[in-house]
Amino acid sequence: IKNIGVLTSGGDSPGMNAAIRAVVRTALYYNLEITGIMRGYEGMITGDMFKMDRKSVANIIQRGGTILKTARSDDFRTKEGRERAYEQLKKFNVDALVVIGGDGTFTGASVFLDEFDVPILGLPGTIDNDLAGTDYTIGYDTAINTVVNAVDKIRDTAESHDRLFFVEVMGRDSGLIALRSGIGVGAEAILIPESKTDAGHLFKRLEEGRKDKASKIVIVAEGDDSGDVFEIAERVKEKFPNYDTRVSILGHIQRGGSPTCGDRVLASRLGVAAVESLMAGQKGEMVGLVNGQIAFTPFKHAIKHISEVNQGLLKIVEILSL
Ligand code: F6P
Repeated sequence: IKNIGVLTSGGDSPGMNAAIRAVVRTALYYNLEITGIMRGYEGMITGDMFKMDRKSVANIIQRGGTILKTARSDDFRTKEGRERAYEQLKKFNVDALVVIGGDGTFTGASVFLDEFDVPILGLPGTIDNDLAGTDYTIGYDTAINTVVNAVDKIRDTAESHDRLFFVEVMGRDSGLIALRSGIGVGAEAILIPESKTDAGHLFKRLEEGRKDKASKIVIVAEGDDSGDVFEIAERVKEKFPNYDTRVSILGHIQRGGSPTCGDRVLASRLGVAAVESLMAGQKGEMVGLVNGQIAFTPFKHAIKHISEVNQGLLKIVEILSL
């Protein structure tokens, strides 16, 4: 390979810039050319690409978002869109790709790879941590720290007013942001889609919880199937009319901000490994980190929905929140 194209696609995540920097600098280290592709697969289709150099990625390791911008491309779902993308890659002499994103990104990469002879490797870039084949995705650590910082503040006011707060966090259909940040903030309960926490169980936990506790925090994953966070708060309010309840939805602050050192190092390691592995002839896989070691997982397996969570972590919530 001579010229690697790099793009970010899907929802952005803190650390994507660190990943881009690692890919660009590693390619240059090995005397390859490197082409930045704007707005994910959209830029591939429209030919919005440019040659990158060391300076293109200067001073970005600490910045949230992605300098290459990102999009969820509808056109790339069509055969015609992918053909146009392939023509553009040829035009710009791009002969390999590193795509940084989540399940949508890898689904697109997998289809493209089946149709065209362009080696692709993926880096897991999503705050949701919902990809198989890596212990952590790039952006997850920063997102959970953002949640912890925000909920610590909510805890202050909850404590002053003796309130019960329901805090909704992101994660799409995964509860991994809720689970880890919930432990980090000492939540009284966590509602996640991977565990059937029905309303009855929640009532019981709140009832059994220490009566003298001034504040209570329930972390609700946005994908939890027990309903909308406002509905859950309403049901609890009906059951315990004495509770002063409030709802807080953290929203997109979870996607922004300067990446933690953990995310920067993860992105750097994976970025270097992706370029070296492309050079060694690998393709069709996500590069992740499992037990501290670089690991490769075929795209089709990486995007498998993870419906199991670490039961030990759930147990920790049960034990520690009383
Ligand atoms: O996949 C990342 C994520 O932030 C999810 O946690 C969330 O459900 C979704 O993206 C939000 O997407 P959008 O930014 O398009 O509203």
